[in-house]
Amino acid sequence: MKGLILSGGHGTRLRPITYSQQKQLIPVANKPILFYAIEDVIECGIRDIGIIVGSNKEQVMETVNNANFGAEIIFIEQEAPLGLAHAVLISEEFLRDESFVMYLGDNILKHGIIRYIEHFRQSDADASILLTPVDNPSQFGVAELNGDGSIIKLIEKPKEPPSNLALVGIYMFKPIIFDAVKRIKPSWRGELEITDALQRLIEDGFMIDSEIVHGWWKDSGKPEDILHANRLVLDDLTHEIKEKEDVKGEIRGRVSIDIGTKVNESSVIKGPALIGTGCVIKDSYVGPYTSIGNNCKIINSEVEDSVIMDGARVVSAGNIVDSMIGRDVVIEKNKYLPKGNKFIIGDNSWVRI
Ligand code: G1P
Repeated sequence: MKGLILSGGHGTRLRPITYSQQKQLIPVANKPILFYAIEDVIECGIRDIGIIVGSNKEQVMETVNNANFGAEIIFIEQEAPLGLAHAVLISEEFLRDESFVMYLGDNILKHGIIRYIEHFRQSDADASILLTPVDNPSQFGVAELNGDGSIIKLIEKPKEPPSNLALVGIYMFKPIIFDAVKRIKPSWRGELEITDALQRLIEDGFMIDSEIVHGWWKDSGKPEDILHANRLVLDDLTHEIKEKEDVKGEIRGRVSIDIGTKVNESSVIKGPALIGTGCVIKDSYVGPYTSIGNNCKIINSEVEDSVIMDGARVVSAGNIVDSMIGRDVVIEKNKYLPKGNKFIIGDNSWVRI
């Protein structure tokens, strides 16, 4: 079996972060979201992985190549985000006549995918999908099921959803899917939808299995999704202070602090919280569900329930909550005249003060 992981698209709902960073590289608990997908696929014993890349391909390739996953990873370029079925279509040469799992690189699943892959390997199904109940099914692909769990119909982003069961972005396919993706037309949003290709297989009498996912699943399309995913991952954080002599402040609960990070005696860190290498936490409070990347400075400030990316500096900034702070961002008290809030921020940023 091979793996196909998607790491293209523009991530417009995550601007301005995605102006400079490919969406799937945004960190959740200090690790690019994409790495969770790669690790899940490798955990199933899959060693041949194709990653679909788009306009930020160099960034994705460099980040993945530097990580040394110990698998055979190739990159497949998609000239524009033309849909999930289009991604399958352009990967035919790589996937050839093997079964494969397609994993959307912005999805995170609590328990990985081994159990689903094993089921699929042992079954006669031509494809298998994962489903989960959601509150807003109109924003997903949705399944209508018979009483026995078999699929009646799959429909992409329905105005009137037939159920609350959304398609999770993890799909298992036999090569018959290539016939289906070649026979569908672009949807109203101009994309070749994998949901339509699956529906085509159903209409042609092929066997599509479905399973409800166990544990949480997160599709990280919007800032609040990233913060939520960060909380979910930090819920399983292991307490680990790498260099105890540098951590002098009060540590409460599960906190992970990497090497070279200094926490002074008048700081308080309350877990679950994760702090990378080379940071300085001085006279500050770092509250639950916060991930701080590498080489950040948090000085005379309070940060809670937030994702702070590498190199950010937060100085005398008051109370920062529910925030995503990009790389090398500076937030500091304005010490100069005229008094007031001073902003130098990029397009599509948003600030609540
Ligand atoms: C895609 C699929 C949709 C699925 C979702 C899961 O949606 O088209 O069927 O439910 O991923 O993340 P998109 O992210 O393109 O809106």
